[in-house]
Formats: sequence, C-alpha cells, structure tokens
Amino acid sequence: MANVILFGPPGAGKGTQAKYLVDKFSLFKISSGDLLRKEIKNETELGNKIKSIIDQGSLVDDNYIDGLIEKIISNKKYFNMLIFDGYPRNINQAKTLDSLISKYDQKISCVFSLKVDHEVVVKRILGRQTCLSCGLIFNTFFSPSTKENHNCDEKHLQKRSDDNEATIIKRIKTYDIKTLPVLNYYSDQNLLCEIDGMREISIIYKEIRAIMHTLDTWLYMVHLYK
Ligand code: AP5
Ligand code: MG
Repeated sequence: MANVILFGPPGAGKGTQAKYLVDKFSLFKISSGDLLRKEIKNETELGNKIKSIIDQGSLVDDNYIDGLIEKIISNKKYFNMLIFDGYPRNINQAKTLDSLISKYDQKISCVFSLKVDHEVVVKRILGRQTCLSCGLIFNTFFSPSTKENHNCDEKHLQKRSDDNEATIIKRIKTYDIKTLPVLNYYSDQNLLCEIDGMREISIIYKEIRAIMHTLDTWLYMVHLYK
C-alpha cells in the first residue's frame, strides 16, 4: 500500500487527475484547497479567517493546515491509501508531512510533478468549472460539460472565487517562491516523478496510472479486482 502526492502549479490538473486515480485505485483524496473551501462554505471560525487569504492568492498559515491533515492521516480507514492534491505547499509542510507519515507508520511512494507552462495554466483556471454535486472538473475552453460526459444538472457547475486574473497571477508567484522548492526536497529523497502536464487529460492519466501499477503490488491487486 502507498500514499502518493500530486504536485504542480495552480491549474496543472492535480484535481482532475486525482479524481480519476481515486476512482481507479480506491484511494482517498486529501486536497488542502478543498478542505479550506469547505471551512469557508460552512462559515466556520477558520473559514472566516482564511477567506481573504485565499482570495488574495497567498498561502494559509501552516498551523491551520497541519490539524486538518493530521485528522485524515491518523484515520486508520485511509491507512496508506491517500492521494495528496496540492499539499504540501512549502518546505515546512513537507517536513510536517514526513513526521506525520512516520508517526502513523505509513510511507510516501511517489510525488508526481505535473509540469505545465504558466500561460497555459492561466487559461485553464479562467475556464474551470467544478460540479459541486459529483466533483468532476470541466473547462469552458478545453473540456466543457456536456450531456454525454456529465449527468448532473448544470446548476451545480461553479467557478471558484479565486479563479480570476488578478488572483491567478498572485497564486503563480506564491507557487514559484514558496512551493517550487518542495520539488528539490522530494528529488533528494528519490521520490520525484516528472509528468508532462501539457498533454491531453486522458494521456496524462494513462501515464500516471501505469506508474501507479508499478509502485506497489497491492495497488495492482486492487486494480485487477475492479
Ligand atoms: P488549491 O485548491 O490547492 O488550488 P491550486 O493549487 O491553486 O490548484 P488548482 O486547484 O487551481 O489547480 P489543479 O492543479 O487542481 O487543476 P484542475 O485539475 O482543477 O488551493 C487554493 C488556495 O487554497 C491556495 O491559493 C491557498 O490560498 C490555499 N491553500 C491550499 N492548500 C494550501 C496549503 N497546503 N497551505 C496553505 N494554503 C493552501 O484543472 C484546472 C482546469 O484545467 C480545469 O478546468 C480542468 O478541466 C483543466 N485541465 C486539467 N488538466 C488539463 C489538461 N491536461 N489539458 C487541458 N485542460 C486541463
Ligand atoms: Mg485543485
């Protein structure tokens, strides 16, 4: 069994790939962004504190993130079956993750780094629509929701409040400064697997899926019996 990480700039396709991989390998997704947006939607104390930070494109304080993440890693139900989407976001978070992984006797098998040019991610983010009912992610430019690929009512399709041009530029800057150094951290641990994220969604998915099969016999067994 193995935990994996999906890494990449805003709009790289982490959430899109995570959804397919979760369905295929019966993994549980930890998206720190989704967890934070849930806090905002539920108007919790934390949600009210972080809304403006997310809308500015900055990173939320590590202390808020650590608790949310530990709650899931410590759950035996998800033991070594996690796919991290957009976490860790800085070196401190990567170190915290390492200590949590060892505290709960688990391991990280691979960090998939999706490489996508900055100009492309801007267009991807501006066109993104997420279905609040089924979780599928669409794009008005590249992969619109249609009757053939989506069963839910159109009213569930939503744009994120941080998906506007000004915030995207700040998010990309934050990524370059704070998040990119995490790549070296995992490269030093020989965990990095670079993926060309400029290709079609299905081609990227097939490549990651093939690598996942080689990661662990258990994952392969799950696949065989699906
Ligand atoms: P988060 O929600 O993590 O956002 P992000 O990292 O900016 O990444 P996105 O969700 O925008 O992109 P994605 O890679 O998931 O792309 P997607 O698959 O949707 O974080 C949001 C905010 O929360 C942060 O800015 C920060 O404030 C805070 N935060 C989150 N985690 C934090 C942490 N750990 N610490 C501190 N703060 C944190 O795809 C995008 C679009 O492109 C979609 O429309 C999709 O259909 C399309 N697409 C995907 N792949 C392709 C492809 N191959 N070809 C064409 N189109 C594609
Ligand atoms: Mg995402």
